[in-house]
Amino acid sequence: MFQNALAEAGAAVSDHLDDVLAPFEGELGAAMRYACGGGKRLRAFLVLESARLHGVARSPALDAAAAIEAVHAYSLVHDDMPCMDDDDLRRGLPTVHVKWDEAMAVLTGDALQAVAFELVTDADLPDMARLCLARGLARAGGGHGMVLGQVLDIAAETAATPLTLDQIKRLQALKTGALFEWSATAGAVMAGADPAPLARYAEAFGLAFQIADDILDVEGDEAQTGKRVGKDAAAGKATFVSLMGLDGARAEAQRLVDLACDALAPYGEAAGNLREAARFVISRQS
Ligand code: IPE
Ligand code: IPE
Ligand code: MG
Ligand code: MG
Ligand code: MG
Repeated sequence: MFQNALAEAGAAVSDHLDDVLAPFEGELGAAMRYACGGGKRLRAFLVLESARLHGVARSPALDAAAAIEAVHAYSLVHDDMPCMDDDDLRRGLPTVHVKWDEAMAVLTGDALQAVAFELVTDADLPDMARLCLARGLARAGGGHGMVLGQVLDIAAETAATPLTLDQIKRLQALKTGALFEWSATAGAVMAGADPAPLARYAEAFGLAFQIADDILDVEGDEAQTGKRVGKDAAAGKATFVSLMGLDGARAEAQRLVDLACDALAPYGEAAGNLREAARFVISRQS
């Protein structure tokens, strides 16, 4: 069942991250471990579930799961900085630049991104699979993916006219969807199988996830989300909620979840956990 699989994935990837990050010295090591603590571990879950569907061995699957959580943690450390969303609370704790300082936040993010590439290039996989994983991670996390999405997100705050629905979809597919797509397709990539159905699943899943995040920013609870709420409207962010209102955004998220589930047809019953995960992302309170 999904909740058990998510808990199991979270515990396994947290243990692996502890081992991988233990050798980093001094305050840098402490900040890297701090930034990678907590979280729902949804991206790790997607990696492990897609690896399971494709019969991938546990060790490389855990390397890929830890890698994506490190990239995700890096993206959050930078996203929270004063020059971006200026947040002081993350996963229920002070953000890295608050607990340390801005220089340490920049450098912690940099180091986490690098360790992610170390993980996938060292994974016990055929060379071609490692190359595809690493290249995919560069595309998903960099200037064609998450970073570009973040740039568009910040730019939209001061745009002269509100973004159109298609522009918001593109922004969110890049800033959030790209890492989810890498995660959900990782198992197929590691096994040399066709990633297309899982890519379709992840595209819809990622958008639904970000819509839920935007809804939680409006009506979520700080104690449950572990981050400040009400920040998007205050900053003038472009979101589904800002364009369609809460009900419109909720309806769109539900439509996307149905789309995500449909994309899993080729996997049949075996993809039950992934279907439940899609339903979970729009009903979650954190
Ligand atoms: C938060 O992601 C950042 C977004 C992409 C909206 P998550 O909600 O997955 O954060 P954690 O990992 O559970 O803290
Ligand atoms: C952040 O989106 C996405 C990335 C970090 C790439 P948000 O800015 O909406 O995430 P939260 O709400 O701070 O977690
Ligand atoms: Mg942001
Ligand atoms: Mg933010
Ligand atoms: Mg948000």
